[in-house]
Amino acid sequence: MTSNRTVTVFGAYGHTGRFVVAELRRRGWTPILSGRDSDKLNVIGAAHRGLDIRPASIDDPSSLDRALAGAAAVINCAGPFARTSAPVIEAALRSQIPYLDVAAEIEVVAATFEQYADVAREAGIVIVPSMAFYGGLGDLLATAAMGDWPAADEICIAYGLSSWKPTLGTRATTQVSKQRRDGRRIVFSNRRMEFRTDDAPILDWTFPAPIGMQAVVSEFTMADSVTIPSHLSTPEIRSYMTVAAVKDLSDPDLSPPAAADESGRSSQTFLVEVVARSGSAERRAAASGRDIYAITAPLVVEATERVVSGRANKTGVVAAGEAFDARDFLRSLSPEHLSLEIQ
Ligand SMILES: NC(=O)c1ccc[n+]([C@@H]2O[C@H](COP(=O)([O-])OP(=O)(O)OC[C@H]3O[C@@H](n4cnc5c(N)ncnc54)[C@H](OP(=O)(O)O)[C@@H]3O)[C@@H](O)[C@H]2O)c1
Repeated sequence: MTSNRTVTVFGAYGHTGRFVVAELRRRGWTPILSGRDSDKLNVIGAAHRGLDIRPASIDDPSSLDRALAGAAAVINCAGPFARTSAPVIEAALRSQIPYLDVAAEIEVVAATFEQYADVAREAGIVIVPSMAFYGGLGDLLATAAMGDWPAADEICIAYGLSSWKPTLGTRATTQVSKQRRDGRRIVFSNRRMEFRTDDAPILDWTFPAPIGMQAVVSEFTMADSVTIPSHLSTPEIRSYMTVAAVKDLSDPDLSPPAAADESGRSSQTFLVEVVARSGSAERRAAASGRDIYAITAPLVVEATERVVSGRANKTGVVAAGEAFDARDFLRSLSPEHLSLEIQ
């Protein structure tokens, strides 16, 4: 536990990084603005006068060490994380501070668990990967839905997005993942990641009102298929995404999501419903809100607050639902950021 309320944000001037910097300030933290481009850092620095600006490159460990010096934690918002996560985690381990990121890349999040679980635990450091809309939120909802169940036969996660205007970071990340998979899809089945080569089936999913029945792409596997099995016992994770949102991902218009309110949130709405099944019994948890990039900021900042104040359940690489009391965490974001329904 520390009274230090300084947090380095790596990738501070990206679309998500800017939401994170604003949320940290709103909660009385002092962000250190870091990233690879000094000019872009100066632009965001001009909007947040008085904050420390520390350019750093993933290819220069000493620059990362300078960026993290004196901080209570580092939040990595620079993606694709295939390149940034390992160097920034290494820097956090050298600086002996917690590391959190917003990675959506399945393979990268899996690699973070595999490569750093032991070293982080031995060092007594908390690493929370994917503490974001994809990864963290589904994991918290799955944990809340499971409640006292020791295991489930399957966990279904249905994403009801009104639209999905991707940022350049999301586009780059999608490209990196596609290249890595060489045309194959990933599905968590039989307690492991499996590759599929056929087209993902299109089904109907009935979301809670007012969204109702929607066409969804099934087997739309996201980072929660890594975080959930790291601490919840289930052989199958089934993920669904509204067809309309998937179509938006190939929109040739490269402009970022347009701000629709003074906080910079777009008009996009989301509803994430998680259903855990055991035999014929079902347990559900759902969260709805606005803008999947904007909601990532309160998720990762709340997690940072809890880790830095000594409220993480364990050290090492931990998923949100294992690191924190999932229901308490979700409720702390409600109703300001999320509307919740937990059975
Ligand atoms: N899991 C989730 O739900 C979730 C939510 C939000 C975002 N994300 C992820 O977060 C990442 C950023 O998304 P975004 O929407 O903020 O995109 P963005 O606006 O395009 O920002 C990307 C940021 O990453 C930086 N960056 C990229 N490669 C870098 C490298 N090699 N070294 C240093 N900095 C690098 C960029 O710096 P330059 O401008 O200098 O290139 C920029 O600051 C993406 O990977 C996205 O998938 C995930």
